[in-house]
Order: sequence, then C-alpha cells, then structure tokens
Amino acid sequence: MILSPRISKPLTAALKSATLFCWALLVLSSPAQQPLQTLLVGVDHRTVTSLDGDWHYLVDMPPAGQLYAGKGQINDHGYAMNSHPNLVGKHNAEYDFDTAPTIKVPGDWNTQIPQLFNFEGVLWYQRDFDAQPQPNTRTFLHIGAANYRSHVWVNQKRVCDHEGGYTPFDCDVTAVLHPGSNFVVIAVDSTRLQDGIPSVGFDWFNYGGLTRDVSLVTVPQSFIDDYDVHLAHGPTFDTANTQLTGYVHVLDAPAGTPVTIDIPEAAARTTVTTDAEGNAPFSVKAAKLALWSPDSPKLYKVHLAAGQDQLTDDIGFRDIRVDGTRILLNGKAIFLEGANMHAEAPVRGGRAFSQEDADRIFGYLRELHANFVRLAHYPHDERMERTADRDGFLIWSEIPNWQRISFDKPEVYAKAVTMLREMIRRDRNKASVILWSVSNETGNNPTRTKFLSDLVVEARKLDGTRLITSALNSIRVNGNERVQDDPLCNVLDVIGQNEYVGWYEGTPEEADNIHWTFPQKPVLMSEFGAEAKFGNRGRVDQRWTEDNQAYVLLKQLEMLRKIPQLRGATPWILMDFRSPGRNIPLLQDGYNRKGLISEKGEKKQAFSLLQKAYTEHSIGKPE
Ligand code: GCU
Repeated sequence: MILSPRISKPLTAALKSATLFCWALLVLSSPAQQPLQTLLVGVDHRTVTSLDGDWHYLVDMPPAGQLYAGKGQINDHGYAMNSHPNLVGKHNAEYDFDTAPTIKVPGDWNTQIPQLFNFEGVLWYQRDFDAQPQPNTRTFLHIGAANYRSHVWVNQKRVCDHEGGYTPFDCDVTAVLHPGSNFVVIAVDSTRLQDGIPSVGFDWFNYGGLTRDVSLVTVPQSFIDDYDVHLAHGPTFDTANTQLTGYVHVLDAPAGTPVTIDIPEAAARTTVTTDAEGNAPFSVKAAKLALWSPDSPKLYKVHLAAGQDQLTDDIGFRDIRVDGTRILLNGKAIFLEGANMHAEAPVRGGRAFSQEDADRIFGYLRELHANFVRLAHYPHDERMERTADRDGFLIWSEIPNWQRISFDKPEVYAKAVTMLREMIRRDRNKASVILWSVSNETGNNPTRTKFLSDLVVEARKLDGTRLITSALNSIRVNGNERVQDDPLCNVLDVIGQNEYVGWYEGTPEEADNIHWTFPQKPVLMSEFGAEAKFGNRGRVDQRWTEDNQAYVLLKQLEMLRKIPQLRGATPWILMDFRSPGRNIPLLQDGYNRKGLISEKGEKKQAFSLLQKAYTEHSIGKPE
C-alpha cells in the first residue's frame, strides 16, 4: 500500500520512534540495570492474571544494603533471594517474607502503614503466584507504576529495573517462570534524586511504592506490543475526512506477517503486512464515522489481529489542532474550562489508582461544568484517561519536569525522553488526551530551553497529531505590563501560563490593572488561585478564608477575560492535596489548600463561583 506523503511522513516518523523506543530502552538502562524488552500497549484490554492484593513487605533502612551493593551496583543476593531463616542448624538469612506483615498493592505505603507515613527510602515487596507456562508463549510482569526507582526479581533472577514513578513498565519473565508456585520480589526506592525527574524539591507528597496495578500478561511468541489508530491528520481539518491511519507493531514477527485492523461499527477493515521490524503501517477509509467530542464521546471497538495474537481496544476518533490563537476540536473552536488535579484519592487520601477514585474526580469536574482537566504534574493512572474517553473530558498530560531539573545533564535528558515515550506510548490512542506537556515552571535559561525544545521535537516525532505545551511562569514584568516572551513559546502549540496574582504576589485587586502580552498562540491560564481552609469564613481581605479565596478567583476571572488569546483556564487546584512543606497548623496541616474542594470533598465558596462561570461560559471565548 503506497501511503500518501501527507499520511506516510508522520507515520514513518512515529514508526521509527517506536522502533527507537525499544532501542532506547535497551541503551538507556544503566549497566547495572536489566534492559526492558518493550512496553505493552493496551494491557488493560488484555486478559491478565492480576497480582494485586496483599504482598509481604520489609523495610530496608538507609543505606539500604539489601538493595545497593555499593558503587551503584544492585545487590542480587540480599532480600532478592527470598530466603528463609534456618531455625535450626547453620546461621543464614535474618529476614523472612513469609512471616512479614502485608501491604496492599496497588497503593502507596505512606497511607497504609502509619510508621511509614513520612518514609522515603527502600521497601521490599514479595508475593508468591502460580503459573503454568505454555509453549510458544511469553509472559510479562506489567507494573502500572512504582515510585520512584524499582528493581524486580522473579525466582531470584533480576528481570528488570525502572526509573520513574508515574509510567508503566513491563518485565519479560518468560525465561524464569516454572510450572506451579513462583515468587516475585520487588524493591521500590522512593528516595528523591538530584538528577531525578522530578528532582529533590516538589510541592506534592512523595507517595512511595507499587502505586498502580501489577499483573502477569501472557501473549503468543510474537505479539502486538504497540499500535496507533487515529483519524488521519492532514494540514487542515476536513469534515469529510474518515481516513483512519496508524500502525500496528508486532514484536518478533517475521516480515510479511498479516495484520488485520477491523472496526465493524465504522465499516472499516484492512489487512496489511509487517515489515522487517515488525511494523505494519495502515490506512483505511471508514464508511461511517462519528467523531469523538465531550458532547458525544463516541468510542469504537477496534479489533487488531496478527498471527496468534489479537486485542480489542475502545478508541475514539477526533481531530485536534491550533489555528492562529484558536484551538480547534473537529474543526470547531473550543474553550477549555477545567481545573488542575493531583493523583490523590478524594476522601480516602493517598495515591489515586481505582475506578472509584477516577469516577469521584470526574464527578466533581462534571459538577463544576468543566470539559477539561490538567493532570498535574505527571501521568496519572490510565483509568483517568479511560474515564475521560468514556465520559467526554479533555486532558492535559505532563511529565514531571517540575521547576529545578538538572537540565545540563545528558543522562537526565535521557530519563526525560524515556518518561515522555512511556507517557505517549501508553495514551496515544486516548481521544481525551489533547495536550502533551513537557514541563512546569522551569527557569528561563538557554540550557533549559535547549533541553525542553529537544524534548518537544521528540514529542512531535512520537505523535504528530496532538498539541504540545508547557506551563510557564517566567514573565517579563514592567509595572502592570506582563510580557510572555519566554523563547520556549516558539516551539509550543499552546502556551500554559501560571500566575498567582492576589496570593503569592500583590493584592487581589492588582489583577484589575494587569495587562498581559502573549505571542499569537492559544493561551491557557494553567495555574492561578489562593489557599483557604474549608469552613474558615471571614472578610474577603482575610487570607486563608473561603471568602478571600473566592474573591481572589473573582478578580482573576475578570483579569482573564481581558486576554484576547485566552482559550482556557485551569485554576490551581480542584482538591486540596498533601504536601509536606505546607505546615501552618490548623490551616494547612501538611496540605496545599488551594483546592476548590477540601481533601474530604467539601466544596468551598470558590467551587460555586467557578461552577457559575463555567455554566455561563463567561471566562473566555473559543475565538
Ligand atoms: C506552582 C506549582 C504547583 C504548586 C503551586 C502552589 O505553581 O506548579 O505545583 O503546588 O504553584 O504553590 O500551590
């Protein structure tokens, strides 16, 4: 099939990137690390053996000698062996997972074990599981996320290592599994790293552990590990366009392997073949296609089949682009009315990971009459994107290049690329995700700008169909004049601007006189707001009261209305969230209180004010 240049160019770039991905995974693993073979896409649409539930745990206090053997080497002979102490006879191990306490997976350890509330370090997880390895199949241990660095052993063999607390990874365990009882041991180290992403200082709680689902995924010897199915994205939006395009990657498939993409409801079906790298690009016209949008979040069953393998995903098709200062969804200008959200479970607290958490969060957003959410400052559980796809919300997804990052270090850039690839690979088929963000509030200097600009190029190579953004806070202030001329704007499709007039700087009223100047691009006011303890009432000039918070917001909305390029707003933040640095007793108590809702789901005055503004669509215009 000859692909037209309009379709083939971005496709081959994405294909190249996909192949590069596997290569990068191999190269980027430090010498001590076991390379990752691949990252499975659509695992939540495969039949898996869940390993969620009770796992035994042991704490490895600093210097964590059971994990670190010195000189950056990993200790493969400590707790990884899962030995049991000889109660009689020769002295051996002084630990025993079998009789150790248990902890729930998924979940952070901080909110499960009171003594570990403030623990940042190494915790070891262990559980047994049964397996019946079948011939001509492969089995992967899929980990939804583990914060921050993790090392995985199965039956005493180290099978993989991973850095990054908010994206999934897969460990090939085929070679180490045996019929019957097996065991897995995972060491998770939540210690902050200067050269980490994020680095050592960040304004959210550093929940440690296996924070998302863990499962065993068995697939045929060669199988579909990655795919991209999207509405063809031409230079301009075309209402008549029903061309679906993308690729299916079949790992270890011989060239010429047939791959079928079948979308019955759209009367779209095609069979293509893999090339030497297992890539099968395709393009097929859908006879009938309803585009996905918040008003009609139409998802299609997309059946993929290749060799012995098959997978069915639920995918919506839509077109997102910018045109001058407008953001166009399916060719129609939109205004994004949303809020920021950290991945913290409402009411229950701790890291959010369940469908119940996702439904509750989107419930609040629905009540707010929002159509958009910025998932700060890192990829959230995949259920958030799935729920947004299902319920019709638009999403900003971000990697945690938060404030001070070691932008001068190539090894840190490599980590950022891996996180970007993991984020995009997991969610590239999610219609709800319209924006990839490469960073938040990073200092405006050439080293940083080079680092992030290169990352933007990488993002475009991986996905030429979405918008690239970043939340900026560097601004040139001249009296009431605020000029956004950060050079990073040049490479962004949409400019995110964070500002806290009326809270961190000045009085709420000062917002009345502020005049913003932005490049001729769509602008989202990605953060603004003030803190208030729920139930704390008083005069509007009394800080920390709900009345002051609502007043700051009122003044902010008036200021935002004057920005011609404004195409959206996400106040900081939907819900109060834990942050260790927020320590004013009786007001903060370890929480950042800029939520429109308390951590228990109690709505503050500001919630109703914003709800009214979103109901009336009174903050800004789509064009
Ligand atoms: C910053 C930052 C957030 C932080 C917020 C605040 O802008 O991006 O992560 O929580 O301000 O200070 O409340």
